[in-house]
Amino acid sequence: MGGDLCSRAMALVVGAGLVLVLALVSVHAELQRFEQPVKPDGSLSFLVVGDWGRRGDFNQSQVALQMGRIGEELDIDFVVSTGDNFYDNGLTGELDPAFEESFTNIYTAKSLQKQWYSVLGNHDYRGDVEAQLSPVLRRIDTRWLCLRSFIVNAELVEIFFLDTTPFVLSYFTDSEGHTYDWRGIKTRRTYIANLLKDVESALKASTAQWKIVVGHHAIRSISHHGDTKELIKHLLPILRANTVNFYMNGHDHCLEHIRDSESPIQFLTSGAGSKAWRGDIKQTNRGNVSFFYDGQGFMSVRLTRSNAEIVFYDVFGEALYTWNVSKQLHSAI
Ligand SMILES: *[C@@H]1O[C@H](CO)[C@@H](O)[C@H](O)[C@H]1NC(C)=O
Ligand SMILES: *[C@@H]1O[C@H](CO)[C@@H](O)[C@H](O)[C@H]1NC(C)=O
Ligand SMILES: *[C@@H]1O[C@H](CO)[C@@H](O)[C@H](O)[C@H]1NC(C)=O
Repeated sequence: MGGDLCSRAMALVVGAGLVLVLALVSVHAELQRFEQPVKPDGSLSFLVVGDWGRRGDFNQSQVALQMGRIGEELDIDFVVSTGDNFYDNGLTGELDPAFEESFTNIYTAKSLQKQWYSVLGNHDYRGDVEAQLSPVLRRIDTRWLCLRSFIVNAELVEIFFLDTTPFVLSYFTDSEGHTYDWRGIKTRRTYIANLLKDVESALKASTAQWKIVVGHHAIRSISHHGDTKELIKHLLPILRANTVNFYMNGHDHCLEHIRDSESPIQFLTSGAGSKAWRGDIKQTNRGNVSFFYDGQGFMSVRLTRSNAEIVFYDVFGEALYTWNVSKQLHSAI
């Protein structure tokens, strides 16, 4: 009798423990991972484009054409989209024709028929945000993969894709007449705290030669939107502490390369996939800017174990700027 009571009490304790463990696991779901093979020679190349979906207008088609040409030249392995995939207000649903009109029918070159890894931008949150994440789109065009936050592991590099829109407080407090689709984000505080924990532990665990973080919003920018103060405060310290090599973003419709004053991180903006030429350039941080171009274009990245080569191209596919870094040099900075 006594033994029976005791074992029943034990079962209760074990049961409660299990519930607790399950609760912790569900709050701290790890970021989803995707494996991306490298070339037989161990190198990897990809293109980065942002702020593009305008049914071909504002030179989107011209940029796409040149992406195809450069993609062929570099024999790219995949394409990264830094968000604001569909203007003006994301997609209206899974069957919004804008998906094909702005993506499938625009990036038609053979070299671009590769996996696209995409994050969401603030304009994407102004539509049916879950539509862009839906497997239905992946069935319409198998290249498409957009998730809120995830990791791509390609042997010599790990790329951490982050959902940066919920970081920006003003979208919640002063939305300027826009409606944001915050389904899936119960509270902003919890969402970003969990994301930061997940990315920090994933970065700490990473043994890849190169670590790249991709988000829609700039940490540093001298263009229209400028720095994102929430990312400087919450994300940048984590990137600095975990020797991230590159932070890549869109949001500002330009191409730019800015150095970090306190770490080897390089800030690379590629948000010039369609409408550009804003013309307003901020004077802050000017001294850390290695390159700035206000017009349309895109970026290429070529990685080997010891070397990274970043190139920015304009709407004619002309290389405007090339930046090389070697791993030895890099760790010595
Ligand atoms: C398209 O690109 C050309 C060359 O940079 C530029 O002169 C033109 O203004 C662009 N068109 C638009 C709509 O931005
Ligand atoms: C470089 O950026 C830092 C912030 O990272 C800023 O404090 C500093 O003033 C900038 N330097 C110049 C010369 O603009
Ligand atoms: C960058 O490095 C690559 C590979 O080592 C080399 O082929 C290329 O010429 C370099 N580019 C520049 C601008 O130094």
